[in-house]
Amino acid sequence: MIHCFQSADALVEKLSFDFLDFIELENPPGRRIHIALSGGNTPRIFFEKIAVNQYKRDKPVPWNKVHFFWADERCVPPEHRDSNYGMTRKILLEKINLEDQNVHRIMGENDPEKEVVRYALEIQSQIASKDGIPVFDWIILGIGEDGHTASIFPNRFDLLNSEQICAAVQHPETRQSRVTLTGRTILQARRITFLVTGVSKSQVVRQILNNEAEASQYPAGYIFNHRKSIDWYLDDAAAQYLKSSSPW
Ligand code: 6PG
Repeated sequence: MIHCFQSADALVEKLSFDFLDFIELENPPGRRIHIALSGGNTPRIFFEKIAVNQYKRDKPVPWNKVHFFWADERCVPPEHRDSNYGMTRKILLEKINLEDQNVHRIMGENDPEKEVVRYALEIQSQIASKDGIPVFDWIILGIGEDGHTASIFPNRFDLLNSEQICAAVQHPETRQSRVTLTGRTILQARRITFLVTGVSKSQVVRQILNNEAEASQYPAGYIFNHRKSIDWYLDDAAAQYLKSSSPW
């Protein structure tokens, strides 16, 4: 399902209400919900909207049933400006009534390979698996201009089929160490959303949605092609090349 919006602000306004509806309505009362978030810049305004719109509900949001995880993390301490958890904590987590034990961050300050083992065990201890793969309720992903998603970069296509729940990688340009969920873990989620804004992403969005040749090199393209239902939340800038003739 493709959701296009005139602006990024209109997009995150709607997505924030869809997010709050999902927590309140789409799961039996009391059932825990396991959501994996992404980092980078795009989610910032999304998290800001959730923090504000949580008060526009008929009743308090049942945050106690929500458990947050991350689709990936930069291997830096939480207070580092690159930390996805640090950004989420500042913009969202500090503004919602959520217990610490509901936050399952990737510990970027740890040795990456050791953190892969620790985080995988934490996920397995918290989330039921199907066919040996943990089933997140919702994974919200961004897409890089190079077609990466989470921290699965085009030079690490092996991670899309890895048996591991998560893996340690390096950013291909900055060489920054990261920990990322693998493709199988992402594809096992009940719901997957690509949250993409800005003209800089318009080419990669078109290539993936129109199944152009380049998309076969993109991890985000692989996820899209190996999943029947994925939500796309796009602003008009990111969707500028999409034509009505597109095969979706
Ligand atoms: C990260 C993200 C990454 C991000 C894309 C898009 O840790 O950087 O998880 O996959 O979603 O790179 O990033 P922007 O939203 O900053 O464009």
